[in-house]
Amino acid sequence: MCAPRDRRHAAMLRGRVDPGTIIEAPRRWPTVTARYHIDAADNAAHRPDQQRVSMREVSLINDVLVVHGDTPLRGEVRVRGAKNLVSKAMVAALLGEAPSRLYDVPRIRDVEVVSDLLELHGVRVSDGSEPGELVLDPTNVERANADELNVHAGSSRIPILLCGPLLHRLGHAFIPDLGGCHIGDRPIDFHLGALRQFGAVVEKTAKGLDITAPAGLHGTKFELPYPSVGATEQVLLTAVLAEGVTELRSAAVEPEIIDLICVLQKMGAIITVHTDRVIEIEGVQSLGGYAHRPIPDRIEAASWGAAALATGGDVFVRGARQADMMTFLNAFRSIGGRLEIEDPAAGLAGVAGGGGIRFWHPGDELRAVAVETDVHPGFMTDWQQPMVVALTQARGLSIVHETVYERRLGYTESLRAMGATIQTYRECLGGTPCRFGRRNFRHSAVIAGPSKLHAADLRIPDLRAGFSHLIAALAAKGSSTVYGVSLINRGYEDFEAKLVGLGAHVERP
Ligand code: EPZ
Repeated sequence: MCAPRDRRHAAMLRGRVDPGTIIEAPRRWPTVTARYHIDAADNAAHRPDQQRVSMREVSLINDVLVVHGDTPLRGEVRVRGAKNLVSKAMVAALLGEAPSRLYDVPRIRDVEVVSDLLELHGVRVSDGSEPGELVLDPTNVERANADELNVHAGSSRIPILLCGPLLHRLGHAFIPDLGGCHIGDRPIDFHLGALRQFGAVVEKTAKGLDITAPAGLHGTKFELPYPSVGATEQVLLTAVLAEGVTELRSAAVEPEIIDLICVLQKMGAIITVHTDRVIEIEGVQSLGGYAHRPIPDRIEAASWGAAALATGGDVFVRGARQADMMTFLNAFRSIGGRLEIEDPAAGLAGVAGGGGIRFWHPGDELRAVAVETDVHPGFMTDWQQPMVVALTQARGLSIVHETVYERRLGYTESLRAMGATIQTYRECLGGTPCRFGRRNFRHSAVIAGPSKLHAADLRIPDLRAGFSHLIAALAAKGSSTVYGVSLINRGYEDFEAKLVGLGAHVERP
């Protein structure tokens, strides 16, 4: 027999939290003793007037969108190739001895940054004959000027993935300081550890990382301390041309990783994905080019789905693919959202963008749920922020446990400023105690809903939180001013035009 508290916890783990439930930490984590309830005084400390954007931020003045709220999004949007595959496939082209073709590439800032980085290394990047087609010609790869590369310092995390390909092609790689969203420390120790095991010598200089491979790169056995997406890609992109066999344990197996393996296999690589997160790579002498149509962007697709739910709307996301989004679809349905899947065969058979998923609000109350982010096949950390906006509209206490990044709940401050009732916790409120549980990170949240959101001045902190701010502004009463919207261009193609197409009222002041 379960004690009532354990039964409630078991229900939470199944993804449902009944309205009015007081969430208690489960007994098996003795460090957590508190009862969790929403503290009204804590929320009152975050009124919109205290969130007003200061004069110091006038530099953002041209980067502002006014969003008129209370607008259900209705209509159709199309997603293109996944940002987190496209950028890596572009890097993979460096490994080839012939040009590669990548289709359905979104016009986003991250693609521009990677194009620039490749061009600085002598890769010719040009548009192909169909819209969204990129041709990458690596036949004249050359060493880049460090100062020119440093123009991109702090703008992306992709440069670290150039290490293996540049070492193979040039025997040397210079990597400027990395950027990316500020959602945690995001160290690169796994990347450097793996590179050193392949035989690379890494020198940290004032300008960035200087990497060489005096004795070449050799296959190795490496076990990741955590199934990192980037570190798995690092190993793949290095091992394919290294001498001998590489065995990677505890590898990430996200759909974008499998798609990158498809790209590399098209180029001539020999890669086996075993069970239990083990990937084996047999190094080959040389690789050719590829022609590849990437998997659709499942983060963008889920963002539009959550936007439909949060705003009480109805959006068909053309190109969204069920197989990559099953965990999101389960959570969406548990909340009470309605969805309908159209297979590509039923839509535009064999044509890019065929099929998709329709997401809509049921018209009656949404239900609170428990969500825990995790590596694939878990609930993606990048789905968390848009989903939390929808959860502010669900009845009861929802719980979110972020286990991938230690600082990915900071944006909830803005939602509180808009009237949402959200409290964050240092403890692991979820099924699995995670790496952050005994450290001082507010990585769990309890959301009490439904809340009537009101307009506020908002400053975008990072890419996914930025899109969530837009959704919240659309769901809120009144007109919100959102600062720093260009950050959203990093990962969402034509987001402003898409919003307008779905009936949103937005304007540049
Ligand atoms: C990729 O980041 C994505 N970025 C992220 O999407 C995504 O959230 C993440 O994978 C998880 O799915 C790109 O693909 C460009 P990780 P990545 O290495 O590869 C720790 C977005 O908005 N870690 O899987 O950088 C790390 O700190 C972005 O599109 C180390 O400790 O993520 C984190 O806690 C945001 N040491 C965890 O692993 C390392 O050397 C997972 O990071 C590497 C990672």
